[in-house]
Amino acid sequence: MWIYPKIIAHRGGGTLAPENTLAGIRCGLAHGFHAVEFDVMLSADRIPVLMHDPQFGRTVRGAGSVSETTARQLAAMDAGAWRDARFAGEPVPMYEDVMNFCKSSNIWMNVEIKPAPGFDAETGRVVAERTRHLFSGEIAARVRRIDDATVPLFSSFSFDALMAARAAAPEIPRGYLVDVVPADWREQLRALDAVALHTNHKNLTPRLAGEIRQEGYGLFCYTVNTPERAREILQWGVDAFCTDRIDLIGPDFAGT
Ligand code: G3P
Ligand code: MG
Repeated sequence: MWIYPKIIAHRGGGTLAPENTLAGIRCGLAHGFHAVEFDVMLSADRIPVLMHDPQFGRTVRGAGSVSETTARQLAAMDAGAWRDARFAGEPVPMYEDVMNFCKSSNIWMNVEIKPAPGFDAETGRVVAERTRHLFSGEIAARVRRIDDATVPLFSSFSFDALMAARAAAPEIPRGYLVDVVPADWREQLRALDAVALHTNHKNLTPRLAGEIRQEGYGLFCYTVNTPERAREILQWGVDAFCTDRIDLIGPDFAGT
């Protein structure tokens, strides 16, 4: 069942700040969010960094791709100016630094493993190994206290990435991320030994929500940006969701 926060800031600070940056996570924090979702991809030298798109052009200017660029080069790239001039110079953050920041700021993380094409298993493995190393104390404590929510939750659209994460760090829980819930969701969740299903709220029905929760899985939705819709899906029994509108939907949103 869901032991994690209910309302989560999507990509750091939603649409109020550049996605997948420390400025974004700081913005979430300034709005009271101690729960964050972000995307993690591997650089050319296999260092996990925060990034959504495998190709440059949207948040980072220019041509090229994350998997062909070293972490050092990525750290020198501007991931903030596209959003607003006041964020100019905000770098592509290293996952390691973000984990440290979140740990020291008491922010819980939903780490979305976002492999560049062809790097599914490797991304899952590397992200899991790094996380396991940094959270070794919390993982050991969690073995004794199953309701402890300090350890991050992995999620991914990539089944193979999650399988690799499972092999590398079985103690770190996993949520399977799907746009449309597939007919064989039970088998997939079982194979991953997942704790939750993460899905697009637009494709969810109250009936399906009930079935998923009845099987004992947590149910997380992305990306819910109006209080009306948030209220509706919470009434269906959805456990948690991420939002871009951290200004409209606060961390204590009760849905009543
Ligand atoms: O993890 C939920 C959500 O972030 C999935 O979609 O494209 O925003 O990473 P996307
Ligand atoms: Mg994401």
